Amino acid sequence: PASFIHRYEPAAAPDRAPLLLLHGTGGDETDLIPLGRALSPGAALLSPRGPVLENGMPRFFRRLAEGVFDEADLRRRAADLAGFVREARASYGLAAPVAVGFSNGANIAAAVLLLHPEVLAGAVLLRAMVPLAEPPAADLGGKPVLILSGRSDPIVPAANAARLAGMLAEAGSSVTHEVLPGGHGLMQADLVRAQAWLAR
Ligand code: MLT
Repeated sequence: PASFIHRYEPAAAPDRAPLLLLHGTGGDETDLIPLGRALSPGAALLSPRGPVLENGMPRFFRRLAEGVFDEADLRRRAADLAGFVREARASYGLAAPVAVGFSNGANIAAAVLLLHPEVLAGAVLLRAMVPLAEPPAADLGGKPVLILSGRSDPIVPAANAARLAGMLAEAGSSVTHEVLPGGHGLMQADLVRAQAWLAR
């Protein structure tokens, strides 16, 4: 798959679901590799770089301001990312991955879940917010989603994260939403919770 710069690590433990790693603003395709290895040792890792630049910082879609998204661009980029996942699955022989996204990466993962649910087996959304003002009529057919929010996250208000959880549950996914004591950054508690959830 040539459409996204990415890193791919084949599975050492092929029984584990592949992880689609989606970095935050200013990250790249190498950022979340250590997190992926820690979350699900031996799982195949597919880690694209966000194709949009904001002042030199890679992202997965454009925003007009912090927390204010260019939804037309988001829809287009979510379709591109879904296409990348389909191509990568075919060329690497992968099962549908579980997305693990942080911040901007969690937001595009939420958009892919709502717009192209067939490409993901589930998702771990770290510090995600509602991606689309008008949620599409998606059928998530029981797909499992873990949302981990920070109680004092200055970027994602608690009510927004709760709205996302409701939106995904309404669309038929099996949502676990936990609010951790902390801000926008990841903590040890995220690792522990996400590890246990992936191993369930
Ligand atoms: C976003 O743009 O997706 C959110 O503001 C999160 C971020 O990237 O900081």
